[in-house]
This record gives sequence, structure tokens and C-alpha cells, in this order.
Amino acid sequence: MRIAAIALLSISCAYSAEIDGGQIFKTRCSIGYCHGSEGKPGRAPKLRERDFTGAYLNKVITDGIPSSSMPAFKGLLKPAEITAVVNYVLALSGKAPVQQTEAVEPAITANFDKGKVLFFDAANENNCGVCHAIDGAGTAMGPDLRKRKRTRSELIASIENPPQSRLTKITLKNGDTIQGIPTGDARIFDTEGLPPVLRNIKKEEIAKTEMIHGQVMPKTRYSKDQLNEIVSYILQAR
Ligand code: HEC
Repeated sequence: MRIAAIALLSISCAYSAEIDGGQIFKTRCSIGYCHGSEGKPGRAPKLRERDFTGAYLNKVITDGIPSSSMPAFKGLLKPAEITAVVNYVLALSGKAPVQQTEAVEPAITANFDKGKVLFFDAANENNCGVCHAIDGAGTAMGPDLRKRKRTRSELIASIENPPQSRLTKITLKNGDTIQGIPTGDARIFDTEGLPPVLRNIKKEEIAKTEMIHGQVMPKTRYSKDQLNEIVSYILQAR
């Protein structure tokens, strides 16, 4: 009983802080070329009369949508503020408010957020996410950059001087060649042009398969500061 009462108390504290989600929406979301006021359509999709769930809104507002102009607000808004905006948007469609979820990630820093934007840089068609996947976004053609547990300086060194890759070169019976990185399920990322294209090749079309070396990852044109931010995103650090 007592535990329940305490839990209830802490939930209501998180809410009754009187954060005005509508006000935050007005200043952060329905500006410029983004969402229309009160959820009406703008450049970005309308948000009223929609069937969003609180969990979905929370995720999209917190993490943004990679490769779109919807930014991540974590680090910019406090978790309770994000919840207030979620509840404002839910209310636009006549839906009941949610409680602040525990799932909101702990203090993520500005560098992490900037790095994430660069990683999926919409202005760069060969952005990192075109070849590397992180947090379920991007394409897992290149190595998983978090799994390998590299240090900050090792990461920066390989971004500045991309390693040579071991590539597979396939010669087809009709004389065409394809080189790239196989997926392991009979498909291959063709890396002769960028961004890489995933191709299906039938076994019976193949005349010869050999291993070669080649440069797949492009040299970066990011500044030192930007490299640091990208690496902060990879390392989930400052
Ligand atoms: C066109 C595809 C492509 C793009 C774009 C790309 N990479 Fe890579 N990257 C690769 C491949 C393939 C490798 C693996 C090389 C090898 O075979 O060892 C790699 C390797 C790396 C490595 C070394 C991994 C290790 O642990 O040895 C790092 C770090 C890395 N990439 C970071 C990045 C970052 C950051 C970006 C964006 C600025 C980026 N890459 C863009 C394809 C790409």
C-alpha cells in the first residue's frame, strides 16, 4: 500500500510540474517549415486526428527520424518536457495523456546529438549511415562501429584514413563483374558506385568468385570538431 502511494506520488510529481506542452509545441515544433500550429498540416505532417500512441510519439520526439528533417529533441528538451509535448499532441487527437516513461535515455549530451545528425547527414549522400547501422538505423554493410569497442583515437584515425576493405569480386558468365561486400544471404552490396546497391545474384550466373582489396569507405570532409561529435555518437559519450 505504502509503495503504491509513493509510486503514485512520484508519478504525479513528474506531471504536475505544470509544463505547458502546447507552449513548447508552439516554440519548437510549429515553427518555420515544420508542423502547423495546433497540429494542422505544415511542411511536416499534420499531427491532429492521428492514431499515434504515446510510446511512438515519445520515441520520435526523443530520437528524431533519421534521414528526415525531424530532429531529435533529447538533450534539447528535458524528459518531462518531451512527455508534455507528447501529451499535447495526443490531446490534439482527443487521446488520453501518458505518464512519463522510464525509457527516456539518461542525459545525452549535445555532442552526441550533433554527431548523430552528422552520422545520418541528409546533405551528404554518402553519410556514415549509408554503410553503417547504429541503433537500428542505417545500413549494416560496414562493420558495427559500437561492437568493436574501439577507442576515440582509433575511431578518428580510421575515419580520417579509411581502411582498405576485403572485397569479393564476382565474374558472371556473361562477362560482367561485380565487386562489393556479400551479405551472407546470397546478396551482395555492389560498392563500385556509391551509395552501395544491394544486388541479387543467382548462383548459376556466377563464373568466378575471388577476394580482392579496395577502398570502399570514402575519405571524410568533416572538421575535427565534427569528427569528435560523430565519435561521441558512436561511443555514446560526450
Ligand atoms: C560507402 C560505405 C561507407 C561509408 C559511407 C562509411 N563507411 Fe565506414 N567503413 C565502411 C567499410 C566497408 C568498412 C570496413 C573496412 C574493412 O573492411 O575493414 C568501414 C570501416 C569503418 C571504421 C573502422 C571500423 C573498425 O573497427 O575497424 C570506422 C571507424 C568507420 N568505418 C566509421 C565511419 C564513419 C564515422 C563514417 C561517416 C563519416 C563512415 N564510416 C562512412 C564503409 C563505409
